[in-house]
Amino acid sequence: MVAVAPFHLILAHLQCREVIEMIQIRGLRKEFGDGTKALRGIDLHVERGQLAVLLGPSGAGKSTLLRCINGLVKATAGEIVVDGTGVHQLRHLEDVRSKVGMIFQQFNLVKRLMVIENVLCGRLARSNIFASCLKLFPPGDIEQALFCLERVGLAEKAYHRADQLSGGQQQRVGIARALAQNPRVILADEPVASLDPRSAERVMTILRDINARDGITVIVSLHNIDLATRYGGRIVGLRDGAVVLDKPGASLTKWDVERIYEAGYSDDDEMDCEQVRYAHA
Ligand SMILES: Nc1ncnc2c1ncn2[C@@H]1O[C@H](COP(=O)(O)OP(=O)(O)OP(=O)(O)O)[C@@H](O)[C@H]1O
Ligand SMILES: [Mg+2]
Repeated sequence: MVAVAPFHLILAHLQCREVIEMIQIRGLRKEFGDGTKALRGIDLHVERGQLAVLLGPSGAGKSTLLRCINGLVKATAGEIVVDGTGVHQLRHLEDVRSKVGMIFQQFNLVKRLMVIENVLCGRLARSNIFASCLKLFPPGDIEQALFCLERVGLAEKAYHRADQLSGGQQQRVGIARALAQNPRVILADEPVASLDPRSAERVMTILRDINARDGITVIVSLHNIDLATRYGGRIVGLRDGAVVLDKPGASLTKWDVERIYEAGYSDDDEMDCEQVRYAHA
C-alpha cells in the first residue's frame, strides 16, 4: 500500500522551503529570437544568505541566467521565484527588481554624476519619482548612501565625479549603489573581470562581507577559478546552458573544472584553468 502525506503537511513543507530558499528556479529555458538556446532547462535553488558562484566558459549562459532572475531577460519557459515572488508575472516585476541589486562588469555608473548621486540611484525604486528628478533626496537617503559608501571604503570620495575614480573604486561604488537599494539578493555579473588582481580581491572581500554580515544572498559569475574556489561557498558550473556541477567551492577539483570547461576553452579560461591545476596539484 502506498502512503500519501496529508495535504496540510505537503503545504507546510512547501511553505517551509519558501522560507529557506531565496531563489527557486524550475525548468528555466531561454531561446533568443535568432534560435540560440542560451538556457536549456535550469533547476536551481539558492538558500537565503548563500554565496554562490556561477562558473562556466564564455557563452555558457551565466549572464542570461542572472538577467532572467531579475527579469531583465524574459524566460521562454520555466519558473523563477525570488523571495516568494514570481518573476514571470509582469505586475510583480517591480517588486522583484526592488529586492535584487545588480552589479555589472563595466560598473554602469553615470560618469558625469557625483559618486553619491550614483549611489542614490539605488534608492530611486524606493523614492518619490518627482523628487528624484529634482534630486531632492530625503536626508535619510543621503545618510544611507554615505553609510553604503563607508561600507565599501569610499566615504571620502562621495562628492567626486564618478569618472575621477579608478576601475576598482568605480566597482565599489557599484556595490554601494546596490546596497543602498536595501536588497535581499545581489547578482554580480563578472564584477572583477575588468580589474587588476588586488582590486578584484578587494571587491570579492566586500561581497563576502556583505553576504556574511547582512545576510544578503549573493550570486556572482566569475571566470577566475582561484577566486571562485576561495570565495564561493557553493559553485554552480554551467556549460552550454545547463548545470553540469553543483558543489562547495572548497572541494572543487581539476576534474570538476575540466567537466565545466570541456571543449569550451577561451584563452582566458585556459589560463584560469591552469591556476586550479597548480592549486590542486
Ligand atoms: N540578446 C541575445 N541575442 C541572441 N543571442 C544571445 C543574446 N544574449 C546572449 N546570447 C547568446 O546566448 C548564449 C549565452 O550567452 P551569455 O551571455 O549568457 O553567456 P555567458 O556565460 O555570460 O558568457 P561570457 O562568459 O562570455 O559573458 C551565447 O551563445 C550568446 O551568444
Ligand atoms: Mg556573461
